[in-house]
Amino acid sequence: MSLYRNSAWFLKGVTEFTKNAFLSSSKRFVEKDLEVSVAGRSFMITGANSGIGRATAMAIAKKGGTVHMVCRNRDKAEEARAEIVRESGNKEIYVHILDLSETKKVWEFAEAFKRKYKSLNVLINNAGCIMGQREENTEGLEKSFASNVLGVYILTKSLIALLEKSVEPRVVTVSSGGMLVQKLRIGNLQSDRGRYDGAMVYAQHKRQQVVMTEQLAKTVANAMPEFHSSMRESLRTPEQGADTSVWLAVSEAAATMPSGHFYQDRKMVSAHLPLAWTRSSPLEEQEFMSSLEDLAKTQQAH
Ligand SMILES: NC(=O)c1ccc[n+]([C@@H]2O[C@H](COP(=O)([O-])OP(=O)(O)OC[C@H]3O[C@@H](n4cnc5c(N)ncnc54)[C@H](OP(=O)(O)O)[C@@H]3O)[C@@H](O)[C@H]2O)c1
Repeated sequence: MSLYRNSAWFLKGVTEFTKNAFLSSSKRFVEKDLEVSVAGRSFMITGANSGIGRATAMAIAKKGGTVHMVCRNRDKAEEARAEIVRESGNKEIYVHILDLSETKKVWEFAEAFKRKYKSLNVLINNAGCIMGQREENTEGLEKSFASNVLGVYILTKSLIALLEKSVEPRVVTVSSGGMLVQKLRIGNLQSDRGRYDGAMVYAQHKRQQVVMTEQLAKTVANAMPEFHSSMRESLRTPEQGADTSVWLAVSEAAATMPSGHFYQDRKMVSAHLPLAWTRSSPLEEQEFMSSLEDLAKTQQAH
């Protein structure tokens, strides 16, 4: 199975996530990579009702894939589903309601999905959130961590058994270039010490996704309001933002690329800046994975 991470923002000069950067990168894209039919294959996309997730769902629907949209808000999800069905002509689009910040519910959802569906080819962990202030979920876990990290871990771990039943399964986790300013921190997983800075907490969780993906790949053999308003004109469109997710999810070319790495604009790139201080030790990474496993198990229904 291949696990990939995708995307970019802040740092590396705001340029990376602009339309111009995309247009420049896209000059080296191989058009036929995406000229594939994925009819008969199924794709689960979290946060598929808006932005990049919605554009990803639309692109895959147009290629004939079955899409499982995992969203937390029924109205928004149904509205997006209706538009995707209308525009793609594909009726194999299903809505599932799940709030990824509710840890026990993530387990329950994944286990129920495995019982109901006999196959899943690709999981795209796209949903992401930035919290304005520290909040806890029902289980007492900090919500950004629960949604962006533990929820992704549980969904992926639980669905691996189903994914592995299909040929060439893939897991794509949409991280962010924001993680480049963060080194893995395992001493404050619940962000309950020091001042809570939602954007930095988010960036740390995007780093945790990157480490998690590298580690999971080894075990399986992959809304910032002020910022958006000032950059609105030059930011990538959702379709441009979704391009690498779609490429990783459907193309033959991606299937030949190494698993567990960070991809940007259809290219494997370093998960660290040059001379970066953000590298973690194997011991820290193991401790992080053990903490996730322990937390996940604590919330698993028996
Ligand atoms: N846009 C960028 O510049 C950029 C750059 C780099 C990386 N990314 C990453 O790309 C991914 C998509 O972002 P986007 O820009 O498309 O943002 P978006 O339009 O805000 O979409 C985020 C999606 O995630 C869903 N979501 C958030 N928390 C959730 C939860 N607890 N349970 C279930 N669903 C949840 C949202 O649902 P609701 O609609 O109900 O809120 C929404 O569907 C994120 O992982 C983000 O970190 C974005």
